Amino acid sequence: MRVLLTGSAGFIGFSVASALLDRGDEVIGLDNFNEYYDPTLKIRRNEILEKRKGFTLVRGDITHQKDLDGAFDLLMKGNVETRICHLAAQAGVRHSIDHPDIFLRDNINGFNMVIEACRKRKTGGMIYASTSAVYGDNKEHPFSEAHRTDNPISIYGFTKKANELQAYLYHKMYGISCTGLRFFTVYGPWGRPDMALFRFTDKVLKGEALPVFGHGKMQRDFTYIDDIVAGVIAALDRNDPYEIYNLGGGKTEELMDYIAAVEKACGTVAQKELFPMQPGDVVATSADISKARKALGYDPKTRISEGVPKFVEWYREYYKM
Ligand SMILES: NC(=O)c1ccc[n+]([C@@H]2O[C@H](COP(=O)([O-])OP(=O)(O)OC[C@H]3O[C@@H](n4cnc5c(N)ncnc54)[C@H](O)[C@@H]3O)[C@@H](O)[C@H]2O)c1
Repeated sequence: MRVLLTGSAGFIGFSVASALLDRGDEVIGLDNFNEYYDPTLKIRRNEILEKRKGFTLVRGDITHQKDLDGAFDLLMKGNVETRICHLAAQAGVRHSIDHPDIFLRDNINGFNMVIEACRKRKTGGMIYASTSAVYGDNKEHPFSEAHRTDNPISIYGFTKKANELQAYLYHKMYGISCTGLRFFTVYGPWGRPDMALFRFTDKVLKGEALPVFGHGKMQRDFTYIDDIVAGVIAALDRNDPYEIYNLGGGKTEELMDYIAAVEKACGTVAQKELFPMQPGDVVATSADISKARKALGYDPKTRISEGVPKFVEWYREYYKM
């Protein structure tokens, strides 16, 4: 199979690309290496991918037609089974408050340009990244795909909900196969510097105080990267005509327990500074993963007691701390 993977230099994209290459698939990566966080991390991830047989990078932007054309030309060469794995997006609930324009451009216009290219080129099915943020402040737990998701509380959540509707429309109008995956707080080695685990680890290792929002009362369904990768690949293989799946860790954890796992892995206890919740944040996320379990054989196994130390080990090695 040949997969056009957008966001290949990103946290999840890099890990999915590596796993696809491991099993012998071809991967065309498309990424613009934007500066939302330190691009050095993206360059390093990409260097690893470019050393591997079967990987080709197109350095470009999903909102630039010429870049997309170049990537789709490579994808459609010859007579090979193809898929699109669309992960490129502007992420970050908080960032979306001050930069709505970037989210509308990359997440809505960018998504439209990618799915429109799928239609024109008659590609294989598309798997795309959605998010638990589409559930907004849903009070029913755990979050199920059957719940309403038309009350977003962030621009980010709104753009991802819009993607689910764009995908639905293209499926209905043009018969394009689309699967949306609602990821729940993904963490692990090569993770994103703007996410809590990265920031906590950095501060704990430097002996600095930890800013803890929501007075530490927030709960999250944390999902280890290897489990997410298994879910993405199962969705690519299954290639449903139109579906949406929750991909969570299957267990809701207290933020303070997450911090305790970081402290244990770093071998030190940090001072904490408690702050109220930030706009756009929700008190708790929890995923009902029964649909993905049944259809995709999705079976997340990694608990934070195992996954957090793996991240800290990677972090120490990468930053030589
Ligand atoms: N990490 C999580 O916990 C999480 C949770 C829910 C959903 N998601 C979604 O999963 C996807 C991957 O997330 P991630 O954590 O790997 O983020 P990431 O920021 O590490 O990766 C995204 C990649 O896309 C690239 N990109 C962004 N805009 C682009 C554009 N216009 N053209 C080309 N490339 C572009 C970036 O340079 C980056 O390398 C995103 O769609 C994100 O919204 C992630």
